[in-house]
Amino acid sequence: MNIVEKIIEQTVMGKDVARACALLGEGEVVAIPTETVYGLAANAFNEQAVHKIFTIKGRPFSNPLIVHIAGFEQAQQFTEHIPEAAYKLMELFSPGPLTVVLPKNELIPEIVTAGLPDVAIRIPDHPLTIELLKTVSFPLAAPSANPFGYISPTSAAHVHKMLAGKIKYILDGGTCKAGIESTIVGFPNGMPTIYREGVITRAEIEKTIGRVEIHRSHKSLAPGMLPGHYQPNTPVVLCDDVDCELAKHKGIDVGLITYNTYSDLIPENNQILLCSGFDLIAAANRLYSAMHDMDERGCQLIIIKKLPDMGIGIAINDRLKRASYR
Ligand code: TXA
Ligand code: MG
Repeated sequence: MNIVEKIIEQTVMGKDVARACALLGEGEVVAIPTETVYGLAANAFNEQAVHKIFTIKGRPFSNPLIVHIAGFEQAQQFTEHIPEAAYKLMELFSPGPLTVVLPKNELIPEIVTAGLPDVAIRIPDHPLTIELLKTVSFPLAAPSANPFGYISPTSAAHVHKMLAGKIKYILDGGTCKAGIESTIVGFPNGMPTIYREGVITRAEIEKTIGRVEIHRSHKSLAPGMLPGHYQPNTPVVLCDDVDCELAKHKGIDVGLITYNTYSDLIPENNQILLCSGFDLIAAANRLYSAMHDMDERGCQLIIIKKLPDMGIGIAINDRLKRASYR
């Protein structure tokens, strides 16, 4: 049993930035809040510390991590070249739910980028984590703070549920504002390309830098784009017509996550509405939380209604497709 696999007796949750800072300085892994989802952070310059992230998550080493920084100037320290379009996007959307993929230099260990020549960089927009990033003398490599393939956490309690006993400290920054992950943009051969759809929509990005490609192959580059991901333990079915889907599964214990209207076919207790009215941003904010809650109820099947394919609904449906992939 190595150091990481040893059970940590107690996982503490709190708002103590100095404590998080000290642990990270010692090469430990700490869960941190961001405006998208909670991250599982370690010193990005410390290979052994980063190694612990992979072990704790059960994440394949072929899946690269995002490096979090306090300000864009810091990116110049460990990147080779920053395209004009990346500057424009960062200027407009950082701090915020934007990740840019840029050519790295030797300061970033290979383990962080899974051997890729590029590093993903993001400035998160959360006061506690910004304070933390300004205090430590290194950037923080951090994937979402869930076991590999499971639903991402949007509260400290979600992280505790999934990782208690495996990490020492969860920096508790409350509920994540956005609730789904950042939009990842890379520049292969100079062409701006969305690797992962997220909080910032394609339309918002195109308004800033002109036409962008969407990277649809899951085989390379962004393994978060694996067909199965964000999955509860309970099987998920994604559908357009809730009542029709409920009728197909009559007689089994079903939980329903739906946009804004209850179905009459099952008790309201077995249903979670993502919002009232037509509010895709509120729906994104509640999505993972609803999936965590439904998974805990222990039903046999979770039926989720597809959201309108517009705005942030596109990124939500992307997550739901992967959550329901078998
Ligand atoms: O909102 C977010 O981005 C959250 C918070 C914690 O910042 N982080 C997050 O990390 O979602 P993770 O590890 O769950 O997803 C990161 C995605 C993965 O799909 C990974 O493959 C991709 O980013 N990625 C990381 N480095 C990359 C690179 N150099 N090139 C292409 N994709 C990369
Ligand atoms: Mg993730």
